[in-house]
Amino acid sequence: MFPRAWRAIALVASCLIATASSAVTYSPVKPPSYPLAVRSPYLSAWIPGSLVESLPSHNAQFWAGNNLVWSVIARVDGKTYNLFGVASPNDETQSATVTAATYTSTHSTFTVTAGSRQFTLDFFSPVSPKNYVRQSLPFSYLTVTVTAGNSASVQVYTDIDSSWTGQASDSTWSYSTSGKTGVFQIEANGASTYSQNSNGQALWGSAVYATRPSASSTLSTQSGPRVAVRDQFVNNGTLSGNHAAWSSGGVVAFAHDLGTTTSASAVTFAIGHVREESIDFLGEAQTGYYRASYKSTTAAVVHFLDDYSSAKSESTDFDSLIESTGTSSYGSNYSDILALSVRQVYGGIEITIPNDSLDTEYVRAFIKEISSDGNINTVDVIYATFPIFYTLSPDYLKLLLLPVFEYQASDAYTKEYAVHEIGANYPNATGHPADGEEMPIEESGNIIILTYAYEKASGNTDLSDTYSAQLKQFAEYLYENGLYPASQLSLNDALGELANQTNLAVKAAVGLATYGALTDQKNYTTTGREWADKIWTDHLGTDDAGTRFLIQYDTTPWFLVFNHYPDVLFDLDVFPDEAYNATTDFYPTVRETAGVPLDGAIGWGQTNWQSFVAATVTGDTRDLFISDLHAYLSNGLNTAPWSDRYWVEASNGYSAGQSYSFRARPTLGSHFALAALSGANIWSS
Ligand SMILES: *[C@@H]1O[C@H](CO)[C@@H](O)[C@H](O)[C@H]1NC(C)=O
Ligand SMILES: *[C@@H]1O[C@H](CO)[C@@H](O)[C@H](O)[C@H]1NC(C)=O
Ligand SMILES: *[C@@H]1O[C@H](CO)[C@@H](O)[C@H](O)[C@H]1NC(C)=O
Ligand SMILES: *[C@@H]1O[C@H](CO)[C@@H](O)[C@H](O)[C@H]1NC(C)=O
Ligand SMILES: *[C@@H]1O[C@H](CO)[C@@H](O)[C@H](O)[C@H]1NC(C)=O
Ligand SMILES: *[C@@H]1O[C@H](CO)[C@@H](O)[C@H](O)[C@H]1NC(C)=O
Ligand SMILES: *[C@@H]1O[C@H](CO)[C@@H](O)[C@H](O)[C@H]1NC(C)=O
Repeated sequence: MFPRAWRAIALVASCLIATASSAVTYSPVKPPSYPLAVRSPYLSAWIPGSLVESLPSHNAQFWAGNNLVWSVIARVDGKTYNLFGVASPNDETQSATVTAATYTSTHSTFTVTAGSRQFTLDFFSPVSPKNYVRQSLPFSYLTVTVTAGNSASVQVYTDIDSSWTGQASDSTWSYSTSGKTGVFQIEANGASTYSQNSNGQALWGSAVYATRPSASSTLSTQSGPRVAVRDQFVNNGTLSGNHAAWSSGGVVAFAHDLGTTTSASAVTFAIGHVREESIDFLGEAQTGYYRASYKSTTAAVVHFLDDYSSAKSESTDFDSLIESTGTSSYGSNYSDILALSVRQVYGGIEITIPNDSLDTEYVRAFIKEISSDGNINTVDVIYATFPIFYTLSPDYLKLLLLPVFEYQASDAYTKEYAVHEIGANYPNATGHPADGEEMPIEESGNIIILTYAYEKASGNTDLSDTYSAQLKQFAEYLYENGLYPASQLSLNDALGELANQTNLAVKAAVGLATYGALTDQKNYTTTGREWADKIWTDHLGTDDAGTRFLIQYDTTPWFLVFNHYPDVLFDLDVFPDEAYNATTDFYPTVRETAGVPLDGAIGWGQTNWQSFVAATVTGDTRDLFISDLHAYLSNGLNTAPWSDRYWVEASNGYSAGQSYSFRARPTLGSHFALAALSGANIWSS
């Protein structure tokens, strides 16, 4: 017995030593995954939190988890250190040591030590929701800074390969310059427009990597076989200037020679994925909004680099707004949650104009249902996301709803209720397929609620003026069908088709009252209130004692009803205080190890709906929802870009607190539900 126990103690001791020697400081917390370059559904590069300690030897990953080759290597006094993304190190190189990792709402920053000098790698994905040019540029910044220190000769190298095109097996490289800016582009050969690989990467368009000399650097470039190009840097510190044609596994590379220096010095790179024809909207190609100002990819990336200091200064203000909003509406746990959510939301959306006219009057936005099924402009995905738009950029509600209204107004759509989405596969917004999902009550209510959210937060009535006939049609549909919903799907499609779903009737009641507020017709508001009384006070949708909502009007399990959140946000007074007080008392009694599940029959929860409900309950119950969400964010059990679905109890071979298949969905805008109660449209830039 003794030897075994001793071995165990020795093992524990060696683990402690290993941990101590590679301690990384994570601030504010270590998240499941850090956004590196997250700007569109196709520019979505991440590094799992679990790999940060060994950042020098691990690849970045596309949101789906497949590797993206993107390396940073530095020489300090002739010795070569791998800083980031070098899975197969060249001879005579060593790993830098990672000491710190931080994230804000727009930056993920890593500090590493390489020989006598320290470097920071700042991965900066701008979020500029009111500047459509800046927001639509499909690029992200990487700034590598050598901090001040001992006098040393320093060179910084970086490369990418054709893993960024989605077709690593057959691509083409090109290199061009514009002024001092060098631009590599990588394109997949023979791919058709609007097609994706099985990981959801765009096969059309091109991956772009660009940089220019800083005031204190000399730039060199090269493309060719990976080991040879990196060896050239290892041996000499500069690249050869040879631009070989594409070869399998080869890289395109930049090196900056910063000279011999004691001071801090920085170089900035732009990484991106550009598709000139970005979305097919009902047969008309749409392109990025920025193309109205910057017609070529080279002009766009040159502008992006020109824009760096303005974008960075905006990000400082934006980050502090998110931080102060989170802290003042709840506390620092909440600001940690908001900060990690922001890039994931805006990085799931693209802002476009028509490819032929480039007319910015026809601006629209498209959102991808990343990882769940790839649908485009799913109305309930916009609904889940809407609190962030209400808080920061209400115009996005209009931009996302416009293509939905336009499609519903076309001859192609003949239903009396609202559509579920406008295409099964992003980027093809070519119409709802005949065999697509139907959610009549859910989406009809959503369109009304989202239109009003836009109007209330922005003060603009243009959307409801233009589409008043559709809104009226959906309100009437709710009135005729909403109190006893026929068997149908709800947005929680895992439930399957069920009749008399309480949460749908709640959506209908709140949808009608919202329509009353939108059109100033009190009888709709009154009807919404009467229905709420039936559902809650008369126990149509609750247990007999009136302590909880049920899934269906029946003796079914309880449900985490969230569709009354707009009642609270818009101050409509639809449901009685008793309903809010009772659910405040009830949810803590059904909390599992890691949170409150979506209903009483399953072991998983949804952060979107937990967040909506957190805004409808008070006191300790609200505390419980937010601290469970924070614990899930920081529990160290997950590695996927933040999943909005997780196990709240050990189940199906998962531990409590592990995520459940979804990843990188833009729906995390729901996390702003509580912040939205404190104010609309608070970002003014
Ligand atoms: C979009 O439609 C085109 C045909 O127009 C097709 O080639 C492409 O594969 C589709 N994209 C997706 C993601 O399904
Ligand atoms: C090595 O670098 C120097 C500049 O530091 C350059 O002049 C020379 O051509 C390089 N040699 C090779 C083989 O690239
Ligand atoms: C999109 O615009 C570009 C530039 O004018 C043009 O070359 C291309 O053919 C257009 N694509 C479509 C599908 O209209
Ligand atoms: C819905 O509930 C009502 C009232 O309880 C009931 O009369 C009706 O049969 C239910 N509908 C279905 C389809 O079960
Ligand atoms: C509300 O009143 C308007 C105008 O009288 C009428 O057209 C509409 O049907 C009423 N709707 C409801 C839900 O009572
Ligand atoms: C709901 O709870 C609040 C806070 O505890 C209390 O002040 C209020 O009277 C309650 N309302 C009802 C209708 O029970
Ligand atoms: C913050 O969240 C953590 C879980 O990550 C929890 O233990 C802690 O109590 C929360 N703090 C506050 C003030 O709610």
